[in-house]
Amino acid sequence: MSQRIKVFDTTLRDGEQVPGCQLKTEEKIIIAKELELLGVDVIEAGFPISSPGDFLSVVEISKAVKEPIVCGLTRAKKEDIDVAAEALRYAKRGRIHTGIGSSDVHIKHKFKSTRDQVLEQGVWAVQYAKSKGFEVEFYAEDAGRADLAFLAMMTQAVIEAGADVVNIPDTTGYCLPHLYGKRINYLFENVKNISKATISVHCHNDLGLATANTVSGVINGARQVEVTINGIGERAGNTSLEEVAMIFEVHKDLNFVTGIKPEKIYGLSKLVSGMMHMPVQANKAIVGANAFAHSSGIHQDGFLKHAENYEIMNPAQVGVLSSSIVLTARSGRAALKHRLSLLGHQFEGEELNTIYENFLLVADEKKEVRDEDLQVLAANIPVLVKN
Ligand code: KIV
Ligand code: ZN
Repeated sequence: MSQRIKVFDTTLRDGEQVPGCQLKTEEKIIIAKELELLGVDVIEAGFPISSPGDFLSVVEISKAVKEPIVCGLTRAKKEDIDVAAEALRYAKRGRIHTGIGSSDVHIKHKFKSTRDQVLEQGVWAVQYAKSKGFEVEFYAEDAGRADLAFLAMMTQAVIEAGADVVNIPDTTGYCLPHLYGKRINYLFENVKNISKATISVHCHNDLGLATANTVSGVINGARQVEVTINGIGERAGNTSLEEVAMIFEVHKDLNFVTGIKPEKIYGLSKLVSGMMHMPVQANKAIVGANAFAHSSGIHQDGFLKHAENYEIMNPAQVGVLSSSIVLTARSGRAALKHRLSLLGHQFEGEELNTIYENFLLVADEKKEVRDEDLQVLAANIPVLVKN
């Protein structure tokens, strides 16, 4: 039996914190509605106390979406929780995401506090948020570096206080996948009331391991993943929604399913990238410009014989129109012949050899040979072959 994994999207909160990515409320509503169509379970719409704009966005997104839970972030403070509860009043289902640091480095240098005090404040925040009548998710900030026994104690205490979800963030992107997985497993083995809450994983990408850590967390029992479109987020970003969703699609043997409709992924990636002025790197998994582009001769030949030779998913699955063959000086005759045939030119034998030689000259000069260059080469072939 497949396990349903909840997708908690934080593009509009952790993603939007990135310098230059700030959105107007109207833009956030457009993205929130698209996230609903994509099939996410939770939309973290903002940090209501942080600014009047964020407050308004949480209010308007709460009105605009029907299916997903709308979530507002808070610190473990009364004023934050009061403001979040106010911002979420129109949500069909609202969630307050409150929390506090759990690692000694945060406890000592950020909160100038003690383990006992942060534990007490965390428990109080959960009880207070719960008293507002919302679902409550607790985040144990910097859990990736926290003392494990203390993290387990904190998790148990906040579940006891009523937390519906406990988020175990690798805030600094420090963990290695097998060790992050072990952390999650340790909680399942040592927190007595763990079955009363959902364990959530929220990973940052400082070492490029956010997706790997997230998957490892799920394999070890987490049932909610916190992600963003295109992996945008603080510093090196958060776990990418598209990567996690497609890992579960491609590796069906893992038996994890989400509610994500993969065919909507590419369109939303483009929308978020455009609105946030955040270009997607060309080699980004799933949504980068080169994710389904084949450029070396050996790969192009293999791909043209049978797409599965070099593609583990069909681009149409994620809403990309088609794979592409990029013609460069590394391309072979098979790719050239194929592209020419798409342009209506059939060349074989000597003609194909001649056009290929000329193609290489053009390719050495221009990095990529485009269809217009091929049309010129094709038009010259009768002359070149005659001479
Ligand atoms: O990375 C983090 O710890 C966070 C929390 C506020 C959930 O974003
Ligand atoms: Zn984060």
